[in-house]
Amino acid sequence: MERELALEFVRVTEAAALASARWMGRGDKIAADDAAVRAMRAVFDTVHIDGTVVIGEGEMDEAPMLYIGEKVGDGSAGAPEVDVAVDPLEGTNIVAKGTTGAIAVLAVAPKDCLLHAPDMYMDKIAVGPGAKGAVNLDAPVEENLNNVAKALGKDIEDLTVVILDRPRHQEKIAAIRKAGARIRLISDGDVSPAVAAAFDDSGVDMMMGIGGAPEGVLAAAALYCLGGELQGRLVPEDDAEIERIKKMGLQEVDKLLTMDDLVCGEDVIFAATGITDSSLLRGVRFNSQGASTHSLVMRAKTGTVRFVEARHRFDKKPFMDEIRGK
Ligand code: FBP
Repeated sequence: MERELALEFVRVTEAAALASARWMGRGDKIAADDAAVRAMRAVFDTVHIDGTVVIGEGEMDEAPMLYIGEKVGDGSAGAPEVDVAVDPLEGTNIVAKGTTGAIAVLAVAPKDCLLHAPDMYMDKIAVGPGAKGAVNLDAPVEENLNNVAKALGKDIEDLTVVILDRPRHQEKIAAIRKAGARIRLISDGDVSPAVAAAFDDSGVDMMMGIGGAPEGVLAAAALYCLGGELQGRLVPEDDAEIERIKKMGLQEVDKLLTMDDLVCGEDVIFAATGITDSSLLRGVRFNSQGASTHSLVMRAKTGTVRFVEARHRFDKKPFMDEIRGK
């Protein structure tokens, strides 16, 4: 992939963020998601790739746009053939309520280099480069916390663990508290804190717990670019989900998925734009001329990490009206 494509992918996540940000706090997660999906889909078609959605809004019969298998990009001569994972609005409830941590996010990789994770739960543990190799999804919580603290040169009491506030995490939360680490309980949106764990000054050291499997692959793609680590295990809830795992080619349903299983290839790009504020990215801010956005884009090949601040003039971008649903 050409290096210039990185900025093109930021345009894609910016469009989704700008569109869904207008729905912040309006209590309508479906409209917020729909706006993000439409905007992302529209801008994708201007990007010079021959892309196939491998993680998206669902199967073809359940999602009108950005469904699994859908082609995205201009597909013109010479366009690189890539697999694409998208979540135009990661944190639909967050935007509906106007709370923190929603992002528009995508990852692009060479064909067959992103695990085609089905839409089900995944148990995950994620850390940044400083603690790579220090975690094991199968180890007791306290052991992981001790090892991460040691790797980061911190006291366990100074570690911050992010975990979704769910009844299913009661035991894990109790174990983290017993070990003495700090916790940030989040209502939704576990991609952003998993990525934040890779940044020294984000205030997040690790993310753990059961959340979405597609979100796990997106976070793994980001940590792949940043030299961090995510381990996961699919958590099927019924026989149909077990069948789906087998269908995707994973015979060992409860396999411990390491970075090698989740992402591969040199040329992996990850991009995200903040919709509402988070430890990783500032949310969209509207101003008298348009809006400003805060994005992150990185490439595994070079390891370059860019934070992109953009100011958008709505009067100079007439297509923004359509994207923003005006
Ligand atoms: P949506 O954006 O689809 O609403 O999902 C957000 C999310 O919070 C993810 O970040 C997380 O992995 C998953 O949902 C958790 O699922 P659940 O709400 O079922 O616990």
